[in-house]
Amino acid sequence: MAASKILVVDDDKNLLELAKARLAASGYAVTVALDRDEALEAANGDSFDLAIVDLRLTDEDGITLMEKLHALYPSMPVIILTGHASVEGAVDAMKRGAYTYLTKPFDPRELVLQIGRALESRKLATENQMLKGMLKEKYDFANIVAKSDNMQRVLEAVSRIAKTDSTVYIHGESGTGKELIAKAIHLASPRKERPFIAINCAAIPETLLESELFGHEKGAFTGAVRSTRGLFSQANEGTLFLDEIGDMPLSIQVKLLRALEERQFYPVGGEKPVQVDVRVVVATKKDLVEEVKKGGFREDLFYRIHVIPIVLPPLKERLEDIPYLVDHLLKKICQQMKRDVKGLTPKSMEKLMQHDWPGNVRELENTLEYAITMTQRDVITDDLVLQTKITMSAAQPTDAIQAQLLPAGGGSFKTLKEARSEFEKAYLVRLLHSCNGKATRAAEIAGKYRADFYDLLKKHDIKLAEFKRFN
Ligand SMILES: Nc1ncnc2c1ncn2[C@@H]1O[C@H](COP(=O)(O)OP(=O)(O)OP(=O)(O)O)[C@@H](O)[C@H]1O
Ligand SMILES: [Mg+2]
Repeated sequence: MAASKILVVDDDKNLLELAKARLAASGYAVTVALDRDEALEAANGDSFDLAIVDLRLTDEDGITLMEKLHALYPSMPVIILTGHASVEGAVDAMKRGAYTYLTKPFDPRELVLQIGRALESRKLATENQMLKGMLKEKYDFANIVAKSDNMQRVLEAVSRIAKTDSTVYIHGESGTGKELIAKAIHLASPRKERPFIAINCAAIPETLLESELFGHEKGAFTGAVRSTRGLFSQANEGTLFLDEIGDMPLSIQVKLLRALEERQFYPVGGEKPVQVDVRVVVATKKDLVEEVKKGGFREDLFYRIHVIPIVLPPLKERLEDIPYLVDHLLKKICQQMKRDVKGLTPKSMEKLMQHDWPGNVRELENTLEYAITMTQRDVITDDLVLQTKITMSAAQPTDAIQAQLLPAGGGSFKTLKEARSEFEKAYLVRLLHSCNGKATRAAEIAGKYRADFYDLLKKHDIKLAEFKRFN
């Protein structure tokens, strides 16, 4: 290891000679300076690990020189030397950033001791800072699997742009992680302590969207009994995530454009503009260039939001992520479901690698959730993976359940009885499928007597023969 470099500044030549000999004997590389100019010249030409500065120099006081040195090397420890009379000055020096002070005449052993301590504490401080930085990055991106080069590039872009306030445009097929990346941008940004507000523009009717976004004054429309703050206001100093922006109605697009350009907007029915400081992140799975051509999306708004584009590749273009995603998602789902499934058989993994993944990571997550629900063991065997021939919903249990809540054709909720019955049927179909139509085994898993199990099959008109496979 190279010797630590020490700069000693004192107008007393004898002291310099002595200090130099003593410190060199202790293994330090020493440079001496008689005054401010010599000291600054030395400091500009070389970096030092520590400086020892006399409080009273002929051309400058030691504290001012210390501050000039700190301007060059902010974390360099400085030890102040002082005569008996000026202990007060030394205390002042400590307040302004000196590591410690020694009163002349001092014991050279004491000086060596203090130097050792100062260098050690600086080393610890830099190490700590590095660790903190590393931990922070790790924490921010800990829940994002990005093994492939494709995704590595995405994460690099995320850390770079997180520090700015530019609008980010995330494009990717459904389930590729658009929302996850939007949150990561917020968490890696200086706004992370402030709110992250998300809104799905496709899920809110046109009549409500404007007041959702910008708020409204009391009496602005029927039912507006009191004024409310919109999401733009709630996201002040934070990040507003406009999901599915491609589905935003044209009438609202105009208002959004104005809000983005002017950084202010009018609540519905309001006369006074509201000013906000919001970082906007948008996401879409639609091809907005195409939408602009078709007239469904305003060209000027497109250019206003298309500042920093991030494209999330479909899962089939980053197959090498799959094993890592499986590992990550398995742990996540097991934790949620309080299960302890350790992994997949090689054959199951092979199946996952060969699949096309139109629903991307979300589909993978659903596939694993289904397998974990169904398995009786602590590994997932391939019979539980991606058997989608019988019902469409088999690959996506979450969506299937959601669909089951509403009657066909939309409208209000189904009755609990209807929903329960449909769930029961879907459950039985999947269960039988995973058991190759072996009723005894299926009944056992379902926790039913065989006879009762057959009754259930009859109730739902399920034929065992359809589930027998030969392999
Ligand atoms: N790289 C990844 N690492 C870990 N988990 C991921 C990754 N990408 C996506 N996921 C997970 O997959 C699921 C879907 O991700 P997300 O909701 O962000 O996708 P999306 O693109 O917004 O989907 P949609 O278009 O359907 O709204 C989430 O549970 C998310 O945590
Ligand atoms: Mg989404």
